[in-house]
Amino acid sequence: MGRKGLKAPVRCAVVGYGAAHIFGRAHGRWIDATPDLEWAAVCDRDPERLDAAKEEFPQLETYESVTDMLSRADIDLISIVTPHFTHAPISIECMKAGRHVICDKAMCLSVAEADAMIDAAEKNDVMLAIFHARRHDGNFRAIKEAVHSGQIGDVFHIELTAGGYGRPRDWWYSKKALGGGAFYYWGPHAIDWVLDLVRERIKGVTGFYHKRVWHDIDQEDQVRAIMLFENGCVADVSHSHIAAIGKPLWRILGTKGAILDTGSGGNKGYQEQIAGPSGGSFQMVQIGDDGRKSVDVPYKESDWLTYYMEIADHLLRDGPVPVTGEDGRRTIAVFEAAEKSSKTGKTEAVAYE
Ligand SMILES: NC(=O)c1ccc[n+]([C@@H]2O[C@H](COP(=O)([O-])OP(=O)(O)OC[C@H]3O[C@@H](n4cnc5c(N)ncnc54)[C@H](O)[C@@H]3O)[C@@H](O)[C@H]2O)c1
Repeated sequence: MGRKGLKAPVRCAVVGYGAAHIFGRAHGRWIDATPDLEWAAVCDRDPERLDAAKEEFPQLETYESVTDMLSRADIDLISIVTPHFTHAPISIECMKAGRHVICDKAMCLSVAEADAMIDAAEKNDVMLAIFHARRHDGNFRAIKEAVHSGQIGDVFHIELTAGGYGRPRDWWYSKKALGGGAFYYWGPHAIDWVLDLVRERIKGVTGFYHKRVWHDIDQEDQVRAIMLFENGCVADVSHSHIAAIGKPLWRILGTKGAILDTGSGGNKGYQEQIAGPSGGSFQMVQIGDDGRKSVDVPYKESDWLTYYMEIADHLLRDGPVPVTGEDGRRTIAVFEAAEKSSKTGKTEAVAYE
């Protein structure tokens, strides 16, 4: 079967071969490691980045504009790895041209843009998938297994914290209109992890945004979203550029135990490797009839390739889309509610479809 009669190998392009994380190359490597997918083209408006791609992967066709690539290249799947403000327009242009799209995080800058992207996928009968592949980080996989198998009882409290003290660098990310703000860098991973862990509807979000130190740039210095779920669970996610003392990455409390994870090594080899070895462990405390027991639970392997394997399964064998446009939209809706709440001082509802 497959979508629109697609046959293997599905020819793929990557848009955005940026120098900051060389994440276009990471996508290309995952594509090439996936049976049934073939990395055929790369597009970047910066010719130097195309030269860099061509030097390492001489077989690639190169294009300086998406419009040009869409008119000339024989490709079916396009991975978009460009700055956030370009995600919606480039995705929509590709989908209107009948191409399937994987859009890296953050999906876009607003719920309105997310709606337009989902609409374009439906109208043009193409796949829209959002690249929340850090669901496959080894620490998150191990935490998810422990939580979903009930090892700490019912989870009622989650803290997820990252950042430190330092001025964000000058580039598109630190310009709010282009990057989206301080939540849009690491935040999409964090909110997606929480939503993958707590499969409940969000009742409301309370946000606290601080602008205290780095006044020469317009993104926030610290952002925090406290999410209340319908089952009573509360998740408190924050990212900071002004936190002079940090906290462990994860602290999760359940009715029969707790998890504490520093996160170090949970994504060992990310961006460089197809999959990463287990890089550490987290502490799990369980309260039982015989008292309190503390164990170190090893992280799992980081099986990042699974994301692209599932994309191939969807395109060729009608499997489910690993992370849908609607999933990505929910993360953006949480950011929007948190920012609104930081201004109104009230708990705000999350836009559901
Ligand atoms: N999923 C992850 O873990 C992860 C990791 C790193 C980066 N990213 C995401 O990758 C995306 C890019 O980030 P980056 O760090 O590589 O940024 P970057 O600035 O290094 O690279 C962006 C590239 O896109 C190109 N570009 C911009 N507009 C374009 C257009 N209209 N057409 C073609 N090319 C265009 C630029 O020339 C540049 O080479 C962002 O969405 C970022 O969040 C995701």
